[in-house]
Amino acid sequence: MSHLEILKRPVHFKSGAVAPNGTLKSAMTERLCTWSKDDFKKRGWPTPEYISLYKDWGEGEIGTIVLGNIPTDARYPEAEHNACIDMTIASHDEYVKAYRPVVEASKAHGSLVIAQLTHAGRQTSIEVNPEPVSSSDVQCQPAMGMTFGKPRAMTLDEIHELPKRFAFAAKVLAEAGADGVQLHAAHGYLLSQFLSPRVNKRTDEYGGESLDNRSRIVFEIVSAIKQAVQDPKFIVSIKINSADFAEGGFDGDDSMEMSKRLEKAGVELIELSGGTYESSGFEHKKESTVARESFFIEFAERIRPHLSSSKLAVTGGFRTAKIMAKAIEEQSCDIVGIARPLCGERHLVKELLSGKKEKATDAHPSMPAQLTLPACIVQLKMTGSGQPIPQMTTEDGVKTLLSILQPPNPEPSHGAEANPDGNKL
Ligand SMILES: Cc1cc2nc3c(=O)[nH]c(=O)nc-3n(C[C@H](O)[C@H](O)[C@H](O)COP(=O)(O)O)c2cc1C
Repeated sequence: MSHLEILKRPVHFKSGAVAPNGTLKSAMTERLCTWSKDDFKKRGWPTPEYISLYKDWGEGEIGTIVLGNIPTDARYPEAEHNACIDMTIASHDEYVKAYRPVVEASKAHGSLVIAQLTHAGRQTSIEVNPEPVSSSDVQCQPAMGMTFGKPRAMTLDEIHELPKRFAFAAKVLAEAGADGVQLHAAHGYLLSQFLSPRVNKRTDEYGGESLDNRSRIVFEIVSAIKQAVQDPKFIVSIKINSADFAEGGFDGDDSMEMSKRLEKAGVELIELSGGTYESSGFEHKKESTVARESFFIEFAERIRPHLSSSKLAVTGGFRTAKIMAKAIEEQSCDIVGIARPLCGERHLVKELLSGKKEKATDAHPSMPAQLTLPACIVQLKMTGSGQPIPQMTTEDGVKTLLSILQPPNPEPSHGAEANPDGNKL
């Protein structure tokens, strides 16, 4: 079987849902929804630009499209202009009406569509919310050009509300036509703050050393979603870290144990990533993964043999069709996730699957590696502006992107090295 045939093979989920091929567009915050600093009711409503972006991706033959994170509490977004579905703000029907067009645009050409649900917890910049909440009161250190307020530990009542919030949003998205939802439990956001022994210092049943306690809220949310959405084909997915890459954080053994437990709980798609704001995971930690492109492939191949019904996706680093296919062929994973290249080359997957391209175009040497993430945000923000998207792959494109990210006379802003608006994930 050729590498393209391997990538083009449909992925059959246990529940019966089918992704047309083994590629996945990983969640990327779009920052294209409405925003108001003071009026929470005006936060997170889809705009024509947001829908237009997914129309583009929907035309790109991506097997599974994961919508960028959708906070379930308007008070704790990850950034300004985040999407949002908050049960205390508007009705089920209002949200279904607002989100249906984005799901429809994404699904128009047969991709499976999964919406990522989240809560930023302590990882919300101080400008967005100076008084965040978290599993406990451990503050996020300045990172990625941002500073963060000291969080307060969530009360038990607040924790008990989380499953209701996630289930409400899942029901909205199911009715809007989504094929599933994904819990964002990676990258240091709230659920990852519960999973991390470094951040979660609670002494009640939601914290402490034991993984049972640290992961309790995740399983309560999974169970609430399954009760709220009874369609057996509706996929419950999760994005977890293979490791936080921080002393005392969630580690490889935790991710292995979590994966086994998630499969038992009926989570059909586990996407592996890594790192947090404080400790970036989007780089090779070992020489042995460089040729395989994927940063987390060695974690994936440890976990994959322990899964029998859940599918394993791994995201971070994949750029070349042959290398992606090899990861699937060698059963290191079932699905390959791609993010940054799809910001500039929206139809990259289609071009890879047709053989027109062998790999995503390399960034131009003048593009600083540490700025690829904020540059992606600029590319996404330019959707709907009617102008060509500046590419990281050309010298002119890099010049344009850098002039936006690092204007010649930047206003001083809490010591940020790059535009603070751009550097979050
Ligand atoms: C602009 C941008 C926004 C992102 N937003 C999210 C997000 O909302 N949720 C998430 O789980 N990961 C997010 N990520 C991380 C990506 O999904 C992915 O894990 C990471 O970019 C590594 O994959 P890549 O090397 O293919 O880019 C974001 C990444 C970028 C570049």
